[in-house]
Amino acid sequence: DWIMGNYIEEAVAKIREQVGDEEVILGLSGGVDSSVAAALIHRAIGDKLTCVFVDHGLLRLNEGDMVMDMFVGKLHAKVIRVDASDLFLGKLAGVSEPEAKRKIIGGLFVDVFKEQAAKLKAGDGGHKGATFLAQGTIYPDVIESGGAKSKKAVTIKSHHNVGGLPEQLGLKLLEPLRELFKDEVRELGVALGLPREMVYRHPFPGPGLGVRILGEVKKEYADLLRRADAIFIEELRNFTDESGKTWYDLTSQAFTVFLPVKSVGVMGDGRTYDYVVALRAVQTSDFMTADWAELPYALLKKVSGRIINEVRGINRVTYDVSSKPPATIEWE
Ligand code: XMP
Repeated sequence: DWIMGNYIEEAVAKIREQVGDEEVILGLSGGVDSSVAAALIHRAIGDKLTCVFVDHGLLRLNEGDMVMDMFVGKLHAKVIRVDASDLFLGKLAGVSEPEAKRKIIGGLFVDVFKEQAAKLKAGDGGHKGATFLAQGTIYPDVIESGGAKSKKAVTIKSHHNVGGLPEQLGLKLLEPLRELFKDEVRELGVALGLPREMVYRHPFPGPGLGVRILGEVKKEYADLLRRADAIFIEELRNFTDESGKTWYDLTSQAFTVFLPVKSVGVMGDGRTYDYVVALRAVQTSDFMTADWAELPYALLKKVSGRIINEVRGINRVTYDVSSKPPATIEWE
C-alpha cells in the first residue's frame, strides 16, 4: 500500500546513502528477517549485495532450492549457496547431547560463513571487495541484547546467533530492519514482493532439524523427518476452521520431531519395526510460554495416515500434548 511504498522509498534512499559505492555481504537463512533484509537491500543496491546461504543439511524439504528460486530466480539477487551438509553431518556423528550438538552447529555455521565472507571481503581482479555486513536484526532483538538480562539466568538452550561477527570480520554493520517489529517486517516483505507463505512462515530454529532429531543426527533420520514434516505442514495448510483460517495460521509453530526408537507395526500381511515421529503444534504470543494446539482429530488422522503410508521407515505417529512450561517448544 501507499504507506509501505513510502517507507520502502525512504529505506532504500537511506541504504544507498550509507553504502555509497561499497559492497555488502548478507547471511541468508531462509528465515523471515534475513529474507526481508536481503530483498530490501537488493532493491536499494542490486548487485552490490552478495548473499551467502549456508546449507547445513538440516533444512526442511526443498528449502534450499526454494530460497534459491526466490532470490536468484525471481529477484535476480547474487547468492552464494554453500552446501556444507557433509561437513555438518560429519562433525555431528556420534554426538547426542543437545547442548553439544547446538554448539557444533552454531560454531561450524560461523566458520563456514566467515570463510565465505573473508573471500568476498578480499575481492578479486577488478572487484574491490565488500566492506559491509548486513544483518536482519529487528527491534525486539535490539532490546533483547541491550536489555538487563540477569547473568544468573539459567541457559536452557544456547541459541546460535552471529553476534560479534562484523567486528571479527572487520566489516561495517548494515541493519535496515533495526526499527521494525516483526509484523512490520512481514508487511515490508510482502510489499517487496516476497510470497506470503515465506513471510508468514512459522519460526525455524538456527540449528534446524539438528534439534528435531533426538540424540545423534544421521542423514537417514533427517531424510525421513523432512518427508514426514512436509506432510504435516501441507495438511495444516489444507485444513481450516469454521472461519476459513488454515490451521497453519491458527498455530504459532508446528513441526515434526524424529524419535530414534523403533516400534512394531503391521502393514498388509507383514510386521514392521520402524521409527516413531511426534507432531508438535503450539499456540503462543511470545514463545516464552505456549499451549499445545487442539488440532482437529480429522487433521491428525489425515496426517498420521499419510505419514505412515507414504514415508517407509516410520510406522507410528504421536501427538505432543505438553505445554511450555514445563516442556519447551522444541524437544532439544
Ligand atoms: P523453546 O524450545 O526454547 O523455543 O521453547 C522457543 C522458540 O525459540 C526457537 N528456537 C531457536 N531459534 N535459534 C533460533 O533462532 C535457536 O537455536 C533456537 N532454539 C529454539 C524455537 O523454535 C521456538 O520458536
